[in-house]
Amino acid sequence: MVLGTLRVPSFRTRAVRDTLKKLRMATNVQCYLVEQDAAGLVHSGMALRSLDDLPPGDVLIRVAYSSLNYKDAMAATGHRGIVRRFPHVPGVDVAGTVVQSGAVGIAVGDTVIVTGFDQGASRWGGWAEYVRVPHDWIVPVPAGLTLRESMILGTAGFTAALCVDALQKHDVQPESGPVVVTGATGGVGSVAVAILAKLGYDVAAVTGKPSAAEYLTQLGAKRIVPRGEVDDKRDRALLSEVWAGAIDAVGGNILGTILRSLKHGGCVAACGLAGGNDLPVTVYPFILRAVTLAGIDASWCPRAARDQAWQRLATAWKPANLESMATFTTLAQIDPYIKDILAGRILGRVVVELHI
Ligand SMILES: NC(=O)c1ccc[n+]([C@@H]2O[C@H](COP(=O)([O-])OP(=O)(O)OC[C@H]3O[C@@H](n4cnc5c(N)ncnc54)[C@H](OP(=O)(O)O)[C@@H]3O)[C@@H](O)[C@H]2O)c1
Repeated sequence: MVLGTLRVPSFRTRAVRDTLKKLRMATNVQCYLVEQDAAGLVHSGMALRSLDDLPPGDVLIRVAYSSLNYKDAMAATGHRGIVRRFPHVPGVDVAGTVVQSGAVGIAVGDTVIVTGFDQGASRWGGWAEYVRVPHDWIVPVPAGLTLRESMILGTAGFTAALCVDALQKHDVQPESGPVVVTGATGGVGSVAVAILAKLGYDVAAVTGKPSAAEYLTQLGAKRIVPRGEVDDKRDRALLSEVWAGAIDAVGGNILGTILRSLKHGGCVAACGLAGGNDLPVTVYPFILRAVTLAGIDASWCPRAARDQAWQRLATAWKPANLESMATFTTLAQIDPYIKDILAGRILGRVVVELHI
């Protein structure tokens, strides 16, 4: 097949099979497979597939770590908003080592990160021992991050970085006033709290888990806000001005409440829908307080912004307490975590260990 101007080798040729043998790689791939039976019921669990079953691409990666994002949990249940075709392998995140490359500038042995694009959505993803991807999806692991740390961050951390960047671009500075993070104990929320605190912002963490106050304080939150306090059901176009900025992972009436509570010129970076996909709000916050609603899409983030976010996550924005927000598991033991993330019960990030 041809990708751009690159001629990409087929992985079905004898030469490639010989190379794989030389690399002492198995031609089988352990993966977490989601299938649908003739009655339409979805089944999922560990399975063995061939390397030939992997999607096309010019780079083959031996996966060291993947992770569990909300989107992966939806894919694992066969959610048709995510899974286009069965059988499917979830996993929007991958960190690992290149074992085959037909791309200029990407060599066997390079350690790399792949997050988003179609990975784990319309293509098989990172819940497998190997993934094959187009070279332009790949980010080299930046100096300052290990493979393990890059997947503690994963798509959630990358998204948090894009949200902080959006606030800065809209001139929300530490001296502008308090910044609120919703879904604060989740993956995006935890990393967002930690980055903002590191950069000197006055961070308020909204959570539905009162027992997580200590966890959030350790990440750097100055104030813990019970979820109900930012879920105003009154029919008022505007509320008291409280927040200079916000990072919202939950949507719905909570996003509507925050938009109505932003200070003049404030900005909310909206990235999620854990609480709902509607948005009950009038135009008044926009036309009377000049607030900005900045949309965040991590999956198709352009190259320059993608590289910049990972560079920042490896240096000035790297949370000091990464390990404290991580739980480690394996693909064979991931099912309870899938249930927990769908029920909003996860604290921080769940990292999946493969070839470590
Ligand atoms: N736009 C993008 O590119 C992008 C990228 C990554 C993720 N996302 C989206 O961002 C959201 C968060 O992702 P994540 O990986 O952080 O998920 P997560 O780890 O599951 O965290 C979501 C958090 O939201 C809160 N929450 C759950 N149910 C809620 C409800 N009914 N009402 C209000 N809050 C609720 C919980 O935190 P508390 O208990 O602390 O309140 C939960 O831990 C998801 O919707 C995900 O799909 C979007």
